[in-house]
Amino acid sequence: MPKPAQFWNDRFAAEEFVYGEAPNQFVAAAAEAWLPDAPAVLTLGAGEGRNAVHLARQGHAVTALDYSTEGLAKTRRLADAASVTVDPLHADVRSWTPDRTWDAVVTTFLHLPPDERPAFYRLIQQCLRPGGLLVAEWFRPEQRTDGYTSGGPPEVDMMVTADELREHFAADGIERLSAETPVLDEGPHHSGPAATVRVVWRKTG
Ligand SMILES: C[S@@+](CC[C@H](N)C(=O)[O-])C[C@H]1O[C@@H](n2cnc3c(N)ncnc32)[C@H](O)[C@@H]1O
Repeated sequence: MPKPAQFWNDRFAAEEFVYGEAPNQFVAAAAEAWLPDAPAVLTLGAGEGRNAVHLARQGHAVTALDYSTEGLAKTRRLADAASVTVDPLHADVRSWTPDRTWDAVVTTFLHLPPDERPAFYRLIQQCLRPGGLLVAEWFRPEQRTDGYTSGGPPEVDMMVTADELREHFAADGIERLSAETPVLDEGPHHSGPAATVRVVWRKTG
C-alpha cells in the first residue's frame, strides 16, 4: 500500500534529516556527469530536500515537489542553511498536471503500487522538454526477496525492475540502466547494502 502524506509528515517531523543532508550517491554522480547542461531541474518526491539543495548548490534552478508539507518545510530549512533557493511545490504526483517542462527530472525512492506506476512514468516524460534527462533510483524486488534491511516499503510489488523501466521508457533514450547493490549511507532509514535500480534516460522525441 502507498503511504499517505501523513506518514511522511510524521517521519519528517523529526528534528534530524532522516535521509541525511547529503545527496543520494547516484544523484550526486549523475548530476556531475549528465546534468551540467540542465539549468532547470524538477525533483519529484523531494522529501527533506537533500537532492534538491545539492543541485541548487551546483547552480541549477530547482523545483522540489512533494505531498509532504513537513518535507517541504525541511527542504526550505536545508536550502536556507546552504544560502540557496529551491522552489517548493506541494502536490501529489498521482493527481498533479505540470504546466511547464524542465531540463531534467530527478527522483529517488518514490515508490508507488504497480497500477499507479505507468501514470507516474508518463508524468515524468510529460515534465521533460525534448532532450531532457531523467535521473532516478528505486529499490528493486530483491530488496525484499533477498532479505536486505536497508529500507524501502515492505511490499515487494512496490519495487521497480529494470525490465519495467524498459517497457515504459523508449529504448533509444536509455543512457544508463542497471541493477545495482550500493551500500546506502542516507540516514537511519536507508543504511547498509541495498538492491536498487538506477536509470538515466533522455527524452528523444
Ligand atoms: C523514501 S522518501 C524519499 C525522499 C527523497 N527522494 C530522498 O531520497 O531523500 C519518499 C518521498 O516521496 C514522497 N511521496 C510519496 N508519494 C508521493 C506522491 N504520491 N506525491 C508526492 N510525493 C510523494 C514522500 O512524501 C517522501 O518525501
